[in-house]
Amino acid sequence: MNARIRVGIAGTGSYVPERVVPNSHFEQFLDTSDEWIVQRTGIQARRFAAEGQATVDMAVQASQRALEMAKVRPEELDLIVCGTLTPDYLLPAAATIVQSKLGATRAGAFDCNAACSGFLTSFSTAEAFIASGRARKVLAIGAETLSRWLDYKDRGSCILFGDGAGAAVLTPLEDCQQGEILRTTLGADGSGYELIHMKGSGSLIPPTPDSLARGDHFIRVQGREVFRFAVDRMGRLIEEMMEGHTYDEVCLVVPHQVNRRIIDAALERMGWNDEKVMVNIQHYGNTSAASVPVALDEAVRAGRCQKGKLVILVAFGAGLTWGASLIRW
Ligand code: UT7
Repeated sequence: MNARIRVGIAGTGSYVPERVVPNSHFEQFLDTSDEWIVQRTGIQARRFAAEGQATVDMAVQASQRALEMAKVRPEELDLIVCGTLTPDYLLPAAATIVQSKLGATRAGAFDCNAACSGFLTSFSTAEAFIASGRARKVLAIGAETLSRWLDYKDRGSCILFGDGAGAAVLTPLEDCQQGEILRTTLGADGSGYELIHMKGSGSLIPPTPDSLARGDHFIRVQGREVFRFAVDRMGRLIEEMMEGHTYDEVCLVVPHQVNRRIIDAALERMGWNDEKVMVNIQHYGNTSAASVPVALDEAVRAGRCQKGKLVILVAFGAGLTWGASLIRW
């Protein structure tokens, strides 16, 4: 077997749609309040895609920014992997349309659906392709248009989500000299598949007038159960990534932006304070697969990823699925 090729992050990019939807928007038609949403989730606003705008459009913009930072031309890409649960179409994959719009003429392209762990999954796939020598330059994306799949009568779910896209360009470390991926992990426990669920969107219950009238195609969450799982899993993943390392070596944890209270509880369990945590949930809500790459890109551009220090990415989501990565910036 060939020696593993060391992999780095050459560039990151993100895009969020222009339309800002504050909590007060939901007060107009739901029994909810800005105060409840802020206290229970940390969310103050989210972005919703404009009419005619969807996942591919946002993914392309985020990817162009990542390519620009990486100084990689689209035609140099060997592979594009897009984590999404809300592709423009069920068929074909969003990644293929992104490939065409970018002009990534040499790249293979496919989607992966691991819900909120979607970016960790595309990122880990990208890393594995490069580490094994199968590819040199790979674009990993997380992009979602969740606003189209929300039941605006369900106050327990529709206030949580937003739209956006994030991306990273991965190359051999020798080409980019930054962001070495030291460790990644992915996991799943499908026995919890109904906890976050769009049951009427696939081949078991395809869309029919009846299923649509029942709202089977909307995202449903069993918030309390997910909350408990999330705190435990996020804490355990950070512990796993930290094995053999100390708190002082870490400059930033970039967690899935699911709920401010979940992030705080996971950190409290670790005995960490919040100075080393990237949080932007107040602006964007939960953007599922886009949440980690958008937060990572904002952290990179704000200078919060310090050369030589450790950055931890951590996410979990529907499936249930989870993933994490340890990076030496
Ligand atoms: O990325 C994975 C997908 N995300 C998730 O699965 C979300 C994870 N879970 C959460 O973030 C939290 O569980 C929620 C924010 C969804 C809910 O917060 P909570 O503190 O767990 O509240 P709860 O579900 O225990 O509900 C408490 C009360 C209930 O009323 P009663 O039964 O005590 O009378 C709810 O009906 O809050 C009520 N409630 C609301 N009230 C005002 C639920 N949603 C709302 C709302 N506005 N939007």
